[in-house]
Order: sequence, then C-alpha cells, then structure tokens
Amino acid sequence: MVPLPKAQRLQQVIRKIRGVGMVIKVERVLHMVGGGGETSYATNSRLQEKAIYRTKPILEIAVAEMYRTLLPEKMVVVDLGCSSGPNTFLVVSEVLGIVGDLCRRLEQKPPEIQFFLNDLPGNDLQ
Ligand SMILES: C[S@@+](CC[C@H](N)C(=O)[O-])C[C@H]1O[C@@H](n2cnc3c(N)ncnc32)[C@H](O)[C@@H]1O
Repeated sequence: MVPLPKAQRLQQVIRKIRGVGMVIKVERVLHMVGGGGETSYATNSRLQEKAIYRTKPILEIAVAEMYRTLLPEKMVVVDLGCSSGPNTFLVVSEVLGIVGDLCRRLEQKPPEIQFFLNDLPGNDLQ
C-alpha cells in the first residue's frame, strides 16, 4: 500500500479522534507539569538550568552588542516557552545583571525593560 502524504495522514487521525467524540486541545495537553511536586517541570529542569548557565557568555555577547549599537531607552525581551518559572526567572535575572553592568560601565541611564513571558494557556507560571 502507498503511504499517504503527511497532511492526509494527519487529517485521517483528526477524523478518527472526532469520530470517537474526543476533543483534544493541544495547548491543554502539551504544557509542562506545573507546581513544585516530584514530577513537575520545576523539579525536573536542572538540565535546562545548566544549559542556561553554560550559555550565559553567549547571552552576554548578544546583549552587549545590541546595547552598544543601539543604546536603547527601552528594551523588550521575549521568552517563547517560559514554562512554569524557575529557569525563565534565571534568564530575566541574567539579562537585568548584564544590562545593569553595561550601563554602569558606559555611564548610561538604565533602559526600561519589558519581559514578555509566553507559553501555552494551560501553563502555570509561578
Ligand atoms: C522544555 S520547556 C522549556 C521551558 C523554559 N524555557 C526552560 O528553559 O526551562 C518548553 C516550553 O515551551 C512551551 N511551548 C511549546 N509549544 C508552545 C507554543 N506553541 N507556544 C507557546 N509555548 C509553547 C511548553 O509549554 C513548555 O513550557
């Protein structure tokens, strides 16, 4: 039998799901496990935390290049997939620290910084 193209296979699956009366809202099932329990994302995201610490030098270079080039009065930082919290606050704190140091060194007034923390609707940022 010739396999169906991906889009047709997906439509078949959706028809099957509708056929058995199941309504799956992807945004309700895909988000990380909230809270602070044993199976929560907050408790099980040490690897991502490590990656954030290891990539801090890259973040420093990126923010410094942007800041020196633009000397912005306002900055917007977007976290697409911030999950339930701990790691995203670590990044927020790193960005604030990097920008603060740059402003002191360059004797500039600190910019206004807006952080947009985005995730799926069922996500519970804490
Ligand atoms: C592995 S977690 C990473 C969380 C966090 N950035 C960190 O470093 O620990 C990926 C996150 O992306 C979110 N996500 C996946 N698809 C998304 C979408 N289409 N829109 C917004 N968030 C999404 C998930 O809900 C999840 O919280």
